[in-house]
Amino acid sequence: MSLRLAGGGRAPGNREVSRFFLLAVRGDLSGAGGEATSKEGERSDQKGADGLILVTGGTGFVGGHVVHELRGRDLPVRCLVRDLRRAAKPAAWGCDLAEGDVTDPESLRAAVAGIDTVIHLVAIRQGRREQFQRIMVEGTRDLLTAAKDAGVRRFVHMSALGASEETKDLVPYYGAKWENEQQVQASGIPYVIFRPSFVFGPGGGILPTFVKLARLTPVTPIIGSGRQRIQPIWAEDLAKYFAEAVERDDVVGRLFELGGPDVVSWNEFWERLKRVRGIHRASIHIPVGLMKVNALLTERLPGNVPLTRDLLKMLEHGDNVVSDQAALSTFQLPLLPVDDQLRRAA
Ligand SMILES: NC(=O)c1ccc[n+]([C@@H]2O[C@H](COP(=O)([O-])OP(=O)(O)OC[C@H]3O[C@@H](n4cnc5c(N)ncnc54)[C@H](OP(=O)(O)O)[C@@H]3O)[C@@H](O)[C@H]2O)c1
Repeated sequence: MSLRLAGGGRAPGNREVSRFFLLAVRGDLSGAGGEATSKEGERSDQKGADGLILVTGGTGFVGGHVVHELRGRDLPVRCLVRDLRRAAKPAAWGCDLAEGDVTDPESLRAAVAGIDTVIHLVAIRQGRREQFQRIMVEGTRDLLTAAKDAGVRRFVHMSALGASEETKDLVPYYGAKWENEQQVQASGIPYVIFRPSFVFGPGGGILPTFVKLARLTPVTPIIGSGRQRIQPIWAEDLAKYFAEAVERDDVVGRLFELGGPDVVSWNEFWERLKRVRGIHRASIHIPVGLMKVNALLTERLPGNVPLTRDLLKMLEHGDNVVSDQAALSTFQLPLLPVDDQLRRAA
């Protein structure tokens, strides 16, 4: 199979391509966040100091930033955690911890007791179809039921850009995200839904893997044409959207697509990443078909791997950018430019 080089260099063989991706080791899940913000819009007089917020997925990459932002605003937080040993940060930030799992409805009923607002971040990106069903579809259904029964007044839900009626059958992740949006909207609980593009941040998510890939591989592999576009948002900025959605009443009942201030193609992304980090390596375009062969290998590895056939399908499907300016004009939050995101990445 022939490989197209961008910027020159020898085309590596299939085995070398596999090695590039095996070198792209997983990022560590941790987070940090920001500070109190602008006061545009209406704020609930019943929320804030009294309104206990339940965060699911608070031990994850995005969750760490969201919890930190909420605590930075002095909002009371309870985290649903599967393993208390992974909850050192939320505990240190003064959060209440509720041991539980979204696949255990009893634990959800206990976790929502006395809760005013739920922020639901739990999702998986890899696994068998039945795991998406159990963790994302049934987990969200059971959480909504428990929340409704407990009189929860707001449900802030994390979806993902790309999830839509059109893509729901493309990969189980999009299918579950789409189904979750329908569940939340039909729940009868006042809601806010966010659909972000790629979330970048220090010490977690996919960006540290990309940085390692650029640093460690002799040429940077770009999947396919590299012309699809993304709109990465900085995790601390994303966390502010969630905190605002807890505090503002005028955003309830709405779904917002979220992105950063810059739209870049994958070609531009890799070029910028290497420029801001002083990495002098050529890039190489690798046909999606060849990547799929590699994914057959990498997706058998344990844990979250950076390359799966589903991920390739999502990538091939098209751009991952916002379709309107609603979030920008409604929240008016300052957003970190992509070059600064790449500079600050671990
Ligand atoms: N990262 C991105 O670029 C991005 C982009 C768009 C949307 N999102 C969405 O943002 C959310 C968070 O993503 P992330 O990148 O922070 O993922 P992550 O780092 O993998 O975190 C996932 C979180 O979910 C928890 N979790 C998983 N299964 C659970 C279960 N059965 N019961 C209870 N908790 C469970 C994990 O707990 P443990 O610590 O116990 O594993 C962890 O706290 C997801 O909904 C994702 O779809 C992310």
